[in-house]
Amino acid sequence: MGAITFPNVMIVSISWIVFDSKRLGSRHAKWSSRDHICPVTISARNANSPNWSNKMSITKPGKIEIAFVLMASRITRRSRYQKFIEEIGLKGGENVLDFGAGWGDNSYYIAKSLNQKGRVTALDVSEEWQTVAKKRLKEFHNIDFVQSDIRSSSLLNGSFDVIVISYVLHDIPAKERSEIIKSLAIKLKSTGFIQLREPTKERHGMPMDEIRSLMKKAGLKESNSTVGKKEFKARYSKS
Ligand SMILES: C[S@@+](CC[C@H](N)C(=O)[O-])C[C@H]1O[C@@H](n2cnc3c(N)ncnc32)[C@H](O)[C@@H]1O
Repeated sequence: MGAITFPNVMIVSISWIVFDSKRLGSRHAKWSSRDHICPVTISARNANSPNWSNKMSITKPGKIEIAFVLMASRITRRSRYQKFIEEIGLKGGENVLDFGAGWGDNSYYIAKSLNQKGRVTALDVSEEWQTVAKKRLKEFHNIDFVQSDIRSSSLLNGSFDVIVISYVLHDIPAKERSEIIKSLAIKLKSTGFIQLREPTKERHGMPMDEIRSLMKKAGLKESNSTVGKKEFKARYSKS
């Protein structure tokens, strides 16, 4: 990827807008730069949307989508991800699962926060995003990459101190969310917790009440929640 110069940013942005409007129709070309950096998610709105289809799935990004996300990541990574991971307050020796790791920005900051005892598992169902994340994070020796559905993964039950869910749940079809949260809860240690952030806008996100109800059904208790205009953040633990 080239340097972050104004022409580079303009070329990638214009390519994306042209590509996106062709693919999704002009209504979907309205894109706010203040949204989360995942353009696929922004375009697809959410997994419940009547416009949702495999063609525009977040799990099957094309080359232009990947290029756009990586360019945006280089510009916003510190403000969007570093602060979120720092807020978790990792001590260093934790076993952390980055669920729906995508292009690896959360895993990058988690890996940097850990000492020699700690490890990150960057899990994603998407082969494309796993390839991107592996390439970007190749210098880290404390990251394990797992391309799998959490429900059928061979990750050990009760093995994680922390599970990070960052902008993933809303991308999962509504009927699968409960099963997935339950599977994640099983992977947590009894003393562990889930650190979650999800967008909550109607055109991009899911209702905060649904997140709360899913977590409750999985036997998880909420603490430290923050309700923003566009984003909901909270911690969920077993005890
Ligand atoms: C909007 S991106 C967020 C990526 C990353 N967590 C972040 O905050 O930048 C959503 C990611 O969730 C992944 N994803 C969607 N459904 C999933 C599932 N059932 N299991 C694991 N990952 C999933 C997608 O492949 C994609 O990489």
